[in-house]
Amino acid sequence: MMVCEYKPGLEGIPAAQSSISYVDGQKGILEYRGIRIEELAEKSTFLETAYLLIWGELPSQQELQAFEHEVRHHRRIKYRIRDMMKCFPESGHPMDALQASAAALGLFYSLRDLHNPAYIRDSVVRLIATIPTMVAAFQLMRKGNDPVRPRDDLDYSANFLYMLNEQEPDPLAARIFDICLILHVEHTMNASTFSARVTASTLTDPYAVVASAVGTLGGPLHGGANEEVIQMLEEIGSVENVRPYIEDCLQRKSKIMGFGHRVYKVKDPRATILQKLAEQLFEKFGYDKYYDIAQEMERVVEEKLGGKGIYPNVDFYSGLVYRKMGIPTDLFTPIFAIARVAGWLAHWKEQLAENRIFRPTQVYNGHHEVSYIPIDQR
Ligand code: CMC
Repeated sequence: MMVCEYKPGLEGIPAAQSSISYVDGQKGILEYRGIRIEELAEKSTFLETAYLLIWGELPSQQELQAFEHEVRHHRRIKYRIRDMMKCFPESGHPMDALQASAAALGLFYSLRDLHNPAYIRDSVVRLIATIPTMVAAFQLMRKGNDPVRPRDDLDYSANFLYMLNEQEPDPLAARIFDICLILHVEHTMNASTFSARVTASTLTDPYAVVASAVGTLGGPLHGGANEEVIQMLEEIGSVENVRPYIEDCLQRKSKIMGFGHRVYKVKDPRATILQKLAEQLFEKFGYDKYYDIAQEMERVVEEKLGGKGIYPNVDFYSGLVYRKMGIPTDLFTPIFAIARVAGWLAHWKEQLAENRIFRPTQVYNGHHEVSYIPIDQR
């Protein structure tokens, strides 16, 4: 029998063969289908990048227009989904609302024709199109308002910001938001993508795949860290408090949110781009004192933990960008999900192409041959 070593968190163990994205954690490189993230952030749009990831190649002008058109015309959510969401408690976390709504969407499309390209396309379009609408609808409904209808004349990101704030966004803010989606769309075998692939491997429907990945993304060690970064910056409150705060965390052996990564041992390239985007927003819409605190944190953490390869990750500066756009903190992770759904769907499609159900093993460390003790003798 083969003896295998148990690796907590499956560190370093390949869980799939994939051509979707690539990370070099030592050099700080991230590529989608071979294209550097910096180039996509500068030249592409979220929907074009989503197409690239899911279908493997950049679309032609015609292909992109057709995809954008389909997404634009599937943005509305069914009134029964909206009515179901109205019953959600307003105190509930928007990630839980999103998970429930994504799963509920599957009730309307129960046919699973997983080998039919039309079914795959239809599911991809429907999920990418409706997830932003569901996030915005829950936000308005929990404030006691009716959700607003998507606007067909606005592009993907501008429409989301419009549905969220009930007013047309500033063009710079909409473009920066679109770049944020590009930066969050895909990231190799992270926890939620692994979750998506495991769920996909059972040949269930894509709505269940996305719902399971949303549930995984919500945790504070994964997508939920961006919320905690803002809470931490608010708690620190001033540049002078940064050093004592970090020293206290290190003494208590508690993790500093927005720092560290299983793969990156240098600054996450997405954090570098997000920092620049935050600066652009501050330049146009005004300075934010939390940015000074964040920069000081970066300096002190590098001094204390740089030797261990602990640097800012994607979640460190994204919160500052969203905060400047007036987005509530507990929507940061749902926005991460709006982007990442395209990455999950790319992995869903790739998993189906060469599927074998995930069924790893375990190292049993319990007892054997234990006798049952009758309840009156315990
Ligand atoms: N603050 C302080 N020390 C840290 C941190 C941190 N944020 N991250 C790692 N370390 C230390 C850790 O204490 C350990 O030290 P030692 O070897 O002396 O015990 C060493 O670095 C390795 O840490 P680990 O927890 O074994 O690393 P991991 O690969 O299991 O965890 C991580 C990676 C991202 C979960 C972790 O760095 C962390 O909890 N960071 C804070 C939460 C966070 O920002 N999460 C977002 C991750 S990026 C976006 C995403 O994936 O969604």
